[in-house]
Amino acid sequence: MSYLDMFSLEGKNAVVIGGTGVLAGEMAIGFAKAGASVAILSGNQQNVDARAAEIEALGCKAIGVKADCTSKADLESALERINSELGHIDILMNAAGVNSATPFFDISEEEWQRIIDINLKGVFLACQVFGKGMVESGRGGSVINISSASSGPPLSRVFTYGVTKGGVNQITQFLAREWAPFKVRVNAILPGFFPATQNRKILTEERVASIFGHTPMKRFGEPSELVGAAIYLASEQASSFVTGSILRVDGGFLSMTI
Ligand SMILES: NC(=O)c1ccc[n+]([C@@H]2O[C@H](COP(=O)([O-])OP(=O)(O)OC[C@H]3O[C@@H](n4cnc5c(N)ncnc54)[C@H](O)[C@@H]3O)[C@@H](O)[C@H]2O)c1
Repeated sequence: MSYLDMFSLEGKNAVVIGGTGVLAGEMAIGFAKAGASVAILSGNQQNVDARAAEIEALGCKAIGVKADCTSKADLESALERINSELGHIDILMNAAGVNSATPFFDISEEEWQRIIDINLKGVFLACQVFGKGMVESGRGGSVINISSASSGPPLSRVFTYGVTKGGVNQITQFLAREWAPFKVRVNAILPGFFPATQNRKILTEERVASIFGHTPMKRFGEPSELVGAAIYLASEQASSFVTGSILRVDGGFLSMTI
């Protein structure tokens, strides 16, 4: 096998939750171009169908499945459809996410719960629903969660979001430990700052200046710059001894102090 072949996802099936979004959409296309068949999941039928059609237009296999990641019943019916249309699951990416800049004392219980449900409970449920088959099949697999720079030392203005992403790191490391005997690797990608739908409102001029001032590369990331990390972690060969890792793709953001 050539070193390049190590990154092939030929014959693999990937589920990308939040695959209609800016970052996971690009990574889903990356999985498909690397040879995988892809199931795109999110809460909007039109959007999942559009992303699946975009992938099929590249000559790859894709299906759009409407599923709210906060609903176990939705995820279970998605699993049934994926099993019947694609077969077993090799790769699970948990990338659904929402954000809010509400100041701490103004965060309502409803807002707190909504962000916790989508960003954290959604990962928990998807790992239960899709991870079970991966663990029990003996075939192994790769789970890739999407963390954030807010998961570590606190980032201003994203309180609930940061709490959920700290939790995503914990889920990643806990399941990496639990599922290693079953050859299911569990890792996270930690993107720095990438303009997308969920964070557009938060990226004010002042905040952008502060982000660039704290990013050695002095720019935002491009969604395509996450694809290499995603394919690497998805590949059984390229990252065979990698589990529990939180791979930063952040232009150096978390390496910097004053
Ligand atoms: N953009 C960034 O700078 C950045 C940085 C770090 C981490 N992230 C994370 O990357 C992931 C992708 O976000 P993005 O920036 O591309 O934003 P985005 O808004 O473009 O995508 C978010 C996706 O989540 C989906 N989603 C929301 N609620 C859902 C639900 N209940 N059920 C199923 N799907 C749901 C949306 O449909 C959309 O596809 C998120 O987890 C986000 O927290 C983004």
